[in-house]
Amino acid sequence: MTAASGTSARTPRSETPKEGEQPMGNATELDGSLRLLEIGDGFIYASALHLAAELRLADHLAQGPRSAAELAGPTGTHAPSLHRLLRALAGCGVFRQDDTGRFALTDVGEALRSDHPRSVRTTVAQQGRLTVRTFQYAEHALRTGEGTFSKAFGQPVWDYLKEHPEEGTDFDTAMHEHSRVERAAIVKAYDFTGAGRIVDIGGGDGTLLATVLARCPGESGVLFDLPHVVERNRIADAGLGDRCEIVGGDVFGELPADGDLYTMKSVLHGWTDSEVVTILRGVRAAMKPDGRLLLIERVIPAGDAPHPSKAFDLAMLIMAGGQERTEEEYTALLTEAGFRVERVIGTESVLSIVQARPVDTGR
Ligand SMILES: C[S@@+](CC[C@H](N)C(=O)[O-])C[C@H]1O[C@@H](n2cnc3c(N)ncnc32)[C@H](O)[C@@H]1O
Repeated sequence: MTAASGTSARTPRSETPKEGEQPMGNATELDGSLRLLEIGDGFIYASALHLAAELRLADHLAQGPRSAAELAGPTGTHAPSLHRLLRALAGCGVFRQDDTGRFALTDVGEALRSDHPRSVRTTVAQQGRLTVRTFQYAEHALRTGEGTFSKAFGQPVWDYLKEHPEEGTDFDTAMHEHSRVERAAIVKAYDFTGAGRIVDIGGGDGTLLATVLARCPGESGVLFDLPHVVERNRIADAGLGDRCEIVGGDVFGELPADGDLYTMKSVLHGWTDSEVVTILRGVRAAMKPDGRLLLIERVIPAGDAPHPSKAFDLAMLIMAGGQERTEEEYTALLTEAGFRVERVIGTESVLSIVQARPVDTGR
């Protein structure tokens, strides 16, 4: 535990060593040590944020600033300890403490409110309940390449979410939150006009498809996902029921046929290479010979530049034995499944769009 040395207290010192003392490291060496301690401490902030989301602290602050003592009752917490959690998160820009010791939401913290238009509260809270627990088995993933969800929860992730409907609904909401943040960037980067019959495989609650159909009144859609997931779809609520079929099924089984454009967003990163090729072959068999396929995924860029896909890739390994992939890796898998990649389009979000067509459907 390194937090006691607190990152803010780690001001590099330049002292001349007294006789007989070991010299301190030079500034560069010290920077390295401080940076490593800072990375190591990152889990403290993540855990604090998970708790804040679980306790719905932002909802309790929606009407204005409150002290920890005022928040303790409604959140069932110990006021002095809650104060320390709020103070730690104020230190990284989620809350702001005023002169009276009350805490308010910052612009960043606002997105932790359940009613914020781009809320990520459910995602962050579920990270704390599910993802963190799988990370306790990270060493197993590292030594074997296997995902650890079953070790942590006793069954594979999709079975667990089916048997725990509250967690399953929260997962769909978390995906909805992601899609809500990303969808504007996707429809800005890709023109779906004239796409025809759009089939969204693993489309979850239909957030992306609803966005595309609302924007393109001439197109129709098919939402495909596990039966208990499509039951919870948002298509009818969006007033798009007359232009969109809802189909429950298994991505390894029969897929909706004769689509002009197939989309898969954040689906293939959950599967191993051989599973991905099987899924892609199924899509290729189902689609029209001149159809298009869009993979919407976090494509890992070359080089060491920071990119969220690299951390998410590690999470996909540990959670599911899946992975984020580079453009070359997607191209290789698509080629193996009988597609050719036409282009890779970046978006203003962390996602990229890989557009491919079947080389020869043999139909
Ligand atoms: C990471 S979520 C992505 C959801 C949605 N595309 C989005 O981006 O918001 C992966 C989706 O794959 C679906 N899925 C998992 N296993 C499946 C299977 N065997 N057949 C069909 N869908 C499956 C899940 O139910 C989930 O909705």
